[in-house]
Amino acid sequence: MKKSSSISFKTLKVSIGLYTHEVYIGHDALAHIGRWLLQQPSKRAFIIADQKLIHARKLLIRALKRSHWEVHEMPVHAGEELKNFNTIYPLYGDLLREKANRDSVLFALGGGTIGDACGFIASTYLRGIRWIGVPTTLLAQVDSSLGGKTGINHSEGKNLIGTFYQPSLVICDTRFLKTLGRREMLSGFGEMIKYGVIFDPNFFKFLEKNQSHILSLKPSVLVQAIHKCLYWKARAISKDEFDRTGIREVLNFGHTFGHALESITQYTRFQHGEAVIWGMRFALALSVVRKKLSIKRQLEIDSILSRLPVPPLPLDSSLIELFKFMKMDKKVRHGKIHYVLLKDVGRTITDSDVTYDDLVDSYQLLTKRVTL
Ligand SMILES: NC(=O)c1ccc[n+]([C@@H]2O[C@H](COP(=O)([O-])OP(=O)(O)OC[C@H]3O[C@@H](n4cnc5c(N)ncnc54)[C@H](O)[C@@H]3O)[C@@H](O)[C@H]2O)c1
Ligand SMILES: [Zn+2]
Repeated sequence: MKKSSSISFKTLKVSIGLYTHEVYIGHDALAHIGRWLLQQPSKRAFIIADQKLIHARKLLIRALKRSHWEVHEMPVHAGEELKNFNTIYPLYGDLLREKANRDSVLFALGGGTIGDACGFIASTYLRGIRWIGVPTTLLAQVDSSLGGKTGINHSEGKNLIGTFYQPSLVICDTRFLKTLGRREMLSGFGEMIKYGVIFDPNFFKFLEKNQSHILSLKPSVLVQAIHKCLYWKARAISKDEFDRTGIREVLNFGHTFGHALESITQYTRFQHGEAVIWGMRFALALSVVRKKLSIKRQLEIDSILSRLPVPPLPLDSSLIELFKFMKMDKKVRHGKIHYVLLKDVGRTITDSDVTYDDLVDSYQLLTKRVTL
């Protein structure tokens, strides 16, 4: 992975197998798209855009037209409902009617739901056309835009249908985050902390120190932080493109409990990153219970997480349901939860011998310091 840098614009070269693509990160990163566009044989863009993002759509279209590209807009409602066969089926029809071909480029302008759905369409339309991610939520900029996991939902569960299909370019323009709500920002910040905790003690300290700068969108700090998260994610995915070798598994830190929380509350109570914040706190407690992490370090690491204003946990009566759900997690092998735990910041360990009692003990350790 090569990187280049300036204070408020950075690039990252991501290599996955034989494939390489770039990421532009910056306040006004979109302005740099011209150099990629100029190299392309065809000049036809199809933009699957969150229809709410009127200003961002204008900026992207202006950038494309400046390079003399023909632009077709396909505005959609963002959200989980988009990630559904019935909802995306008409979009294939739009592409066919407009004669989009293998030289055309799909753009995903929006949060993670737009990226997941657009990537899925790009990977299946005409057996695969190129696509560019233009993520507009912090969560999508630091996490979901990289790695090529595309997906739609099934009534049996989230993200059960999908492909691995890498984008040709990712553009993280931090100007787009200005209109993002406070909870969405916090949700993305939760995923950011994950990268510090699992990979990088210095970055963890940087986040502790700069939390308010990041949440108030100070360009130089924000660009540096997004770049660091993507740098670490790129390192993990480059060695495990199809999520098979276990290297990518560490990115699921906090997600077994987090996904279960989201699910038992019907995806209405927590933003994804908020549930992951609870999930990481739970994983820290479990690391103590499983004797991987000292209580002293747990408290130190937990202090940044415990101060974040996320919705409270559901009542204890939901515990059995919660743990039952964790057993159905994708990381379960032979009926055992495969847990990513922490020995210290930057040092993870997986543990598949966790018992039900360990989970209850961890929950108690976690909740004795919080108000339910
Ligand atoms: N592919 C992956 O590797 C991966 C990883 C993590 C999460 N995901 C997926 O990402 C999705 C969640 O991502 P998300 O939270 O970005 O979802 P989202 O696309 O639903 O966006 C969240 C909300 O923010 C709004 N929004 C987007 N950009 C905005 C902006 N700049 N200003 C104001 N509002 C804006 C959207 O309209 C929506 O209401 C889930 O479906 C999850 O499964 C995928
Ligand atoms: Zn996540």
